[in-house]
Amino acid sequence: MVINWKANPQQRKFFNATADEVLYGGAAGGGKSYGAVMDAFMYALRYPKSKQLILRRTFPELEKSIIRVHLELYPRELYKYNQTNHTGKFVNGSIIDFGYIDHENDVIQYQSAEYDVIRFDELTHFTENMYVYMLSRLRGANDYPKQIKSGTNPGGIGHRWVKKRFIDTVPAGQVYTSDAGTTRVFIPAKVTDNVALMKKDPSYIKRLMNLSEKDKKALLDGSWDFFEGAYFSEFDRSIHVCKPFTVPEYWTKYVALDYGLDMLAAYVIAVDESGKAWVMREVSESNLIIKQAAARIKSLVGNDKITAYFAPPDMWNRRQDTGKSVREIFAENGIYIVKAGNDRVQGWYGLKEYLHPYKDETGSITAKMAIFENCTYLISSLPNLVHDDHNPNDVSTKPHELTHGADAIRYFVAGRPINGQVPQERDDDVLDYDDQIDDFLDY
Ligand SMILES: Nc1ncnc2c1ncn2[C@@H]1O[C@H](COP(=O)(O)OP(=O)(O)O)[C@@H](O)[C@H]1O
Ligand SMILES: [Mg+2]
Repeated sequence: MVINWKANPQQRKFFNATADEVLYGGAAGGGKSYGAVMDAFMYALRYPKSKQLILRRTFPELEKSIIRVHLELYPRELYKYNQTNHTGKFVNGSIIDFGYIDHENDVIQYQSAEYDVIRFDELTHFTENMYVYMLSRLRGANDYPKQIKSGTNPGGIGHRWVKKRFIDTVPAGQVYTSDAGTTRVFIPAKVTDNVALMKKDPSYIKRLMNLSEKDKKALLDGSWDFFEGAYFSEFDRSIHVCKPFTVPEYWTKYVALDYGLDMLAAYVIAVDESGKAWVMREVSESNLIIKQAAARIKSLVGNDKITAYFAPPDMWNRRQDTGKSVREIFAENGIYIVKAGNDRVQGWYGLKEYLHPYKDETGSITAKMAIFENCTYLISSLPNLVHDDHNPNDVSTKPHELTHGADAIRYFVAGRPINGQVPQERDDDVLDYDDQIDDFLDY
């Protein structure tokens, strides 16, 4: 018996992911559903008498997708599907149940169930409550690995909670450990992962290109950042987020910060000789007193030589309790801040200019600002900021917890940072000679 199927590299990552919760998400056509079906198959054969559940929001959707696909792929010698009770059985005693959770209380059908692996297809169609409830159904007397493995396109009613749970926490492919000690990982899918599909149906991408801008970003690029009403609609991870690297010594470096008791957000930003800004490191932390905030900024900076620390004007206000301003206490702790302009709309426009995508001389799309992928708070909050209801030119100050990173970067823009200067090749002899002439003329 031969199974004529070869996983693509992202599908293989999905198979091998060992985190408690795995999400395979992104563009339509990347191979997520097929990946899930084959992953379930291998698990069933590897672990005799194992129990798996595959869920979709409604049963008819499940029938048209996963059920149809798995009947096509699973060899009859090994597996039999029972259409009446929606269960499949393998020769080694493993089973797969197929189910749905349409309404919140549909979870009750699984109240007494036990599964080794639960798989959601199109996770963003579900609510977080449904998902979290099903997490508790993972159990069993055996020592088989227990996992929830899901696949999804971006953009459903669950877009925000799924993005927050899997995409905003750590860079793709890295394992995140929750406060409860459980692990999660996100594996991105792009339509271009699926070479077989593009060969078989080259017009598929062309058809996707006809969708609305928003659907195109979600379905074609697998982007999680685009939604109606976003202020920084130009934000695009493939343009604005990059892997960290060691920046040249001669690039100028700045710190931009926003501080309130609710949160300190501070960034080290380098500027290259072309004026492109590289947001290198961040601290985003709540409930710090001023002294602690200063210490955090110091350790963020490390040994980097900082040209200026940009901060908003309200840090010059004296506090009633101590009579001192934040600026004074920062200075006592060795951080000398510079006042940055606080015209919000002008600042946002300036930031939009930094983010504006354009073609560079090689023809690839770039922008005047890139953010190192370790700055997860900024990367997750920026695309979620929306227009202010009363002044659409301004960014809404709600949800407040999302605004601090963008505010800090706005102070950087308002501070008019200067470019790094490429050091000139110097011939010391000639310079000495020049210096002597200068000295002579001074004299
Ligand atoms: N590894 C693979 N090799 C060849 N074809 C594949 C592979 N994975 C998926 N496909 C094909 O690509 C198409 C899209 O796959 P699917 O899993 O439905 O994508 P998604 O769920 O990400 O939208 C399917 O028609 C399937 O036949
Ligand atoms: Mg699918």
